[in-house]
Amino acid sequence: MEEVAFAQVDRRWNTPERTALVSTVSADGRPNLIAVGWLMRASLTPPVYAIGINRRSQSGRNIAATGEFVIAIPGVDLAPALMYCGTHSGADTDKFAATGLTPQPGRVVRPPLVSQCLANLECRVVATQDIGDHQVFFGEVQASWAGSDPGRPLLVIGAQSGYFQVYEEAGFRLGIVRD
Ligand SMILES: Cc1cc2nc3c(=O)[nH]c(=O)nc-3n(C[C@H](O)[C@H](O)[C@H](O)COP(=O)(O)O)c2cc1C
Repeated sequence: MEEVAFAQVDRRWNTPERTALVSTVSADGRPNLIAVGWLMRASLTPPVYAIGINRRSQSGRNIAATGEFVIAIPGVDLAPALMYCGTHSGADTDKFAATGLTPQPGRVVRPPLVSQCLANLECRVVATQDIGDHQVFFGEVQASWAGSDPGRPLLVIGAQSGYFQVYEEAGFRLGIVRD
């Protein structure tokens, strides 16, 4: 064991990373989507997810303004749409229109579900933590939705073996666990 630059350990261990779309609305009701890799389960009962959101993003402003978000789990077919949402800002783009993803009303919160996703979780913010250049929003799950196909989680993959790459753009490789 020898001490190395943080980036060296980060490069080796930050993949695979589970990905999701997070749906939000602005204070005046405009829907938006962001790609996230920084999400984790933060409480079992009640179910709470934490998402790390860049302070400069439109999505961060939306969640801070409304206290609501939806975590939408994309399948393999949505890899290009996920990348689009991760490389364009909702400040000047309607990402639902641009990707063809279909907004579907939820039951509890204002941000729409994403019809084509494998599952959707409606979340209400119960805590927020400013940390470095990100904000961590803790969202308690209010309602859960699932499609008929359980699918397989889309991952940001690295150089390790054992994964099947389905898409590559802007330095990101997306894939799934190999059969
Ligand atoms: C695969 C992938 C994962 C990403 N994960 C995150 C993340 O966890 N948190 C974050 O703030 N941005 C993340 N990003 C970057 C945002 O999706 C990107 O900055 C987006 O354009 C912000 O959109 P908005 O301004 O409409 O909110 C990720 C991008 C990609 C492609």
